Amino acid sequence: MKISVIGTGYVGLVTGVCLSEVGHEITCLDIDSRKVERLNRSESPIYEPGLEDMMKKNIDAGRLDFTDSYETAMRGRDIVIIAVGTPQADDGSAELVYLNNACRSIAETMTNDMIVVTKSTVPVGTNEHVKNEIEKHHNGSYSVEVISNPEFLREGSAIHDTFNGDRIVVGGESEQAVEKVKSIFEPFGVPIIMTDLRSAEMIKYASNAFLATKISFINQLSNLCERIGANVESVAKGMGMDKRIGDKFLNAGVGYGGSCFPKDTSALSAIAQSVDYDLTIVDSVIATNEGQQRIIVDKIKKVFPDLENKRIAVLGLAFKPNTDDMRDAPSIKVVRELVDAGAEVYAYDPIASENARTYLPGATNYMDSVEEAIDGKDFAVIMTDWKEIKEYSPEDYAKSLTNPVVFDGRNCYGLKEIENTGLEYHSIGRPT
Ligand code: UGA
Repeated sequence: MKISVIGTGYVGLVTGVCLSEVGHEITCLDIDSRKVERLNRSESPIYEPGLEDMMKKNIDAGRLDFTDSYETAMRGRDIVIIAVGTPQADDGSAELVYLNNACRSIAETMTNDMIVVTKSTVPVGTNEHVKNEIEKHHNGSYSVEVISNPEFLREGSAIHDTFNGDRIVVGGESEQAVEKVKSIFEPFGVPIIMTDLRSAEMIKYASNAFLATKISFINQLSNLCERIGANVESVAKGMGMDKRIGDKFLNAGVGYGGSCFPKDTSALSAIAQSVDYDLTIVDSVIATNEGQQRIIVDKIKKVFPDLENKRIAVLGLAFKPNTDDMRDAPSIKVVRELVDAGAEVYAYDPIASENARTYLPGATNYMDSVEEAIDGKDFAVIMTDWKEIKEYSPEDYAKSLTNPVVFDGRNCYGLKEIENTGLEYHSIGRPT
């Protein structure tokens, strides 16, 4: 099938590349022409394992190309997938300006009847708005059907998730359009659930908010465990063995970050407010996470009340491993607070340092390895559970740091591993 994808951010690019991999003819559009040039050379603007190889293979096979022209992207296409960003507006709701621009351009350039699939995460009711917007700007020659197809992939494992997802959601009012869109995803071999437009839109927010709730729940319990002398890891293990609860997303830490959970929980709360309903559970999840993102600073200040001129190693900056994404990363708050308290920060992240420069104040020094970051520093703080950081030997901290103290915001080490290393180890929800 001939399909266009509008927007080459995380979701759009991965979707376009994976659909070409299963044999569809894909044109991806982005209005940034310099980005398009790079993409046509198989250069990915995002870090995602395996993506560039898959891009190259399908570009070479003539199934995948990139353009900045709507005329080119829309010519003779059966289906167009909208995957533009829906960032958070100042009031917490989703910003729809990019989506509206895409609707107008589609309306002005479509050359036949069209199925428009929205993959961007959008407030409930937006797909009906998409249909109206396109019809408003179109000259009436062709018909438009809209389908909601929210995305559930995770950064850093996006290709794996596309081919091994738990479900694909296809929501729409026209049975024919739903069937046609379902057929393009069938080669992924993932169960497909078909539903109405509004329920499909809601499934996405509900899923992300529920996962965020699991994380905030275990994070609050970790704070309680510390106060009553329990170990949150054992608690999570014991809970997770109950299949009704499940063992995923019960890792306590410094809170969730990234481009999705913070934005989608706020947007869901804003949706509820717009219909005069208080979504108290989600509001409390958001507040809990804001506190949890800086909990490590409280731990640090208990041990080192005066941070003036302290030289601190910060290991990991990205909001999670295997990504260079710094959006809403807990490290931003923590590094800022340490710098504000007069400390000097020496940070190491395997790939996010470049992006971190735009988020963090000038007082941060970027190091090239864990060794370099900790060498001669007063103490270390772990913010991201990169494999490389987890595999770093606990004994080596004691050798390199002036004070052998590590604050671990991701519980990278088992407590047994720390025994006899001479390290004073402060983690999350476990005995010190
Ligand atoms: C999340 C969802 O997992 C995807 O299903 C969804 O498609 C995506 O948002 C989206 O809406 O586009 P992502 O933000 O890439 O994916 O990352 P996750 O792996 O879900 O992690 C989110 C945050 O939660 C990270 O900061 C991670 O460190 C934190 N987390 C995760 C925990 O603190 N504890 C856990 O047990 C799990």
